[in-house]
Amino acid sequence: MKFQAVRLFQEGRTRVSRMVEQTVDDLDPGDVVIRPLYAAVNYKDARAVSGAGNVIKRFPCIPGIEVSGTVESSAVPAFRAGDLVTVQGGQEFGIRHDGAYAERVRVPAAWVSPVPAGFDARDVVALGIGAYTAAVAVEELMQRGVTPDRGPIVVTGATGGCSSFAIDMLAGLGYTVAASTGKAAEAGYLKSIGAAEVIGRDALTTGEKPLEEQLWAGAIDAVGGKPLADLLRSVKKRGVVCSFGNAAGETFTSSIYPFILRSVALAGINANHPLPARGSAWTRMAAGGDLRPRHLDTICFDIPFSGLMDYCARVIDGGIRGRAVVRFG
Ligand SMILES: NC(=O)c1ccc[n+]([C@@H]2O[C@H](COP(=O)([O-])OP(=O)(O)OC[C@H]3O[C@@H](n4cnc5c(N)ncnc54)[C@H](OP(=O)(O)O)[C@@H]3O)[C@@H](O)[C@H]2O)c1
Repeated sequence: MKFQAVRLFQEGRTRVSRMVEQTVDDLDPGDVVIRPLYAAVNYKDARAVSGAGNVIKRFPCIPGIEVSGTVESSAVPAFRAGDLVTVQGGQEFGIRHDGAYAERVRVPAAWVSPVPAGFDARDVVALGIGAYTAAVAVEELMQRGVTPDRGPIVVTGATGGCSSFAIDMLAGLGYTVAASTGKAAEAGYLKSIGAAEVIGRDALTTGEKPLEEQLWAGAIDAVGGKPLADLLRSVKKRGVVCSFGNAAGETFTSSIYPFILRSVALAGINANHPLPARGSAWTRMAAGGDLRPRHLDTICFDIPFSGLMDYCARVIDGGIRGRAVVRFG
């Protein structure tokens, strides 16, 4: 049986994605064949499909790091045809092994998880790594003692998927959230998901001195680069900055003073964990949980599989908000 897949090819120095016709035998080997229902589009996926950066480590390859669907066939007793399952996280799927953006997915059984209780086929990927990353960062702030009474938390890259979830979760827990965005026109959206204040990308600090006015009790940073350095100069004493992204740059320069004079902490967040290893940051997002985003339907929206490549180009141009979910057939 033939089906459609988005494959990224390396052609000389150029990387190009094409929608191609495939059979299951064209896919990388695995015990379980899944018929996809939904797949997520992370920033990393958009970079992979667009051929930007070095996300894909083997060519040609099908991108896409999160999928849910039904088992079509399985060579192991743990999964049977018709089971509702998801694959997400890890270092291989959609990076070195054919991934989610195909009408059939074949993977080793060890990568497959049943859709857990409290999630359905759509919200398990609508939330997925994006919301899980936000939840890990929110838990980190809480565990380090940044309570709502300490002052406002600023979230950068605010209209992005991870950051939209972070705003929603923080507001739900009683924090006052300032949303930093390059899209002033999205202020209404950001307030609708919980932001108390919307500021520009250049309003994270008040000047260029090593220590500036103490504005933020904490920060969740999706962009890295200069904005991260700006944040550090304006975080209050004993404030915590959680850093998980690089949309504005992979490097930054900071003086030592925020750390040694204000005891500011910079906490790195890595959330690329497979489902069984996710712990409380994941289970608290199940239906009824205290980290379950209250505005999931505002933040997430469906796109058809046929529109994936155009959509990814728009992500790279920075022109989207929220988190897209690919809907298959
Ligand atoms: N560490 C981990 O485990 C982990 C897990 C998931 C994601 N990530 C990383 O987290 C980041 C966000 O991921 P995502 O999927 O939420 O991406 P996304 O939906 O594409 O959001 C990224 C946001 O960053 C802002 N932005 C884009 N280009 C920028 C620039 N040049 N300067 C400043 N801001 C810019 C934009 O927000 P505004 O226009 O509102 O400013 C954009 O919406 C990515 O870097 C991703 O690789 C890391």
